[in-house]
Amino acid sequence: MKNVTLHTLAQLKQDGEKFTCLTAYDATFAQVLNQAGVEVILVGDSLGMVLQGNDSTLPVTVEEMAYHTACVKRGNSSSLIMADLPFMSYATTEQALDSAAALMQAGAHMVKLEGGAWLADTVEALSERGIPVCAHLGLTPQSVNKLGGYKVQGREEDSAVQLLQDARALEQAGASVLLLECVPSSLAKQLTEIAGVPVIGIGAGADTDGQVLVLHDMLGITPGRRPRFVKDFMSEADSIEGAVSAYVNAVKGGLFPSAEHGFA
Ligand code: KIV
Repeated sequence: MKNVTLHTLAQLKQDGEKFTCLTAYDATFAQVLNQAGVEVILVGDSLGMVLQGNDSTLPVTVEEMAYHTACVKRGNSSSLIMADLPFMSYATTEQALDSAAALMQAGAHMVKLEGGAWLADTVEALSERGIPVCAHLGLTPQSVNKLGGYKVQGREEDSAVQLLQDARALEQAGASVLLLECVPSSLAKQLTEIAGVPVIGIGAGADTDGQVLVLHDMLGITPGRRPRFVKDFMSEADSIEGAVSAYVNAVKGGLFPSAEHGFA
C-alpha cells in the first residue's frame, strides 16, 4: 500500500470507493493492519477501556496517548495514523495546541477530538498550524456522563439539525475528516452527501465514506454484550490477519455494515 494521506482519503471519497479504519495501540497490530491494507489506524482513547479496563475513556491521559501513538508509529509503514485527544486535553485552545503537539511529535499524522460547533476555534487554530483534525460527532464517548449513557444520537428532528449544523461549522473551521458514531443511517447518509470532506462511520450505516471499528470488538474479544454495530470477524476466520482482511474486503465490497448493524 502506498502511503495514505488526507489526499488519498479525499480521492477515495470522490471516486465513491470505501476506505477502512481500525483501532490499534501497539506496533504489532499496526503492522497487521498495514498488511491488510487498512487505510487509517486510529490510536483511540478506547484504549482506556480495552487495554486499561476502565469503564469509560475519561481516565486516559495525553502521556498515555503519546506512548501508544509512538508504539503504533514504530510498527506502521503506510497507514495514516489518527490519534485521539483525550478527555479535557482540549478544553481550551491553548491546551489543545499543547496536547496535539505531543501526539504529532509521537508520530500521529492527525488528531481527533469530540464535540460540536463550540470547537470551531480550536479546530481552526490546530488546522492553521498544520495539524489536521478529525471531528467526532454523534455519540461522543468522552461526554457519556452528560449524554446519560452510550445512546444513539440525532434521532429527533432538532438534534439531527444540530448535528448537521455542527458538522458544517467544523468543516468550515478546517476539519479534514468527520467521524459519526451511533447516528441513524439516513442522517449519516445525508451528512456524507453534503460534506466536502471524508466521513467515517461507526454505527452510522453503510453510506459513510469510511468505516471504523475497535479492533478488540471486531476480533470478538471484548467482554460483555456486543454493540449492535459490531461484527465479530474472527468467528469465521482462522487467524487475526484473516479476520482483519475479511473486514477490509467486507467494507470495500459494501457487505459491511449491513442494515442489522445500523440504527433507524
Ligand atoms: O476511541 C476510539 O476507539 C474511537 C472509536 C470508537 C471511533 O473513538
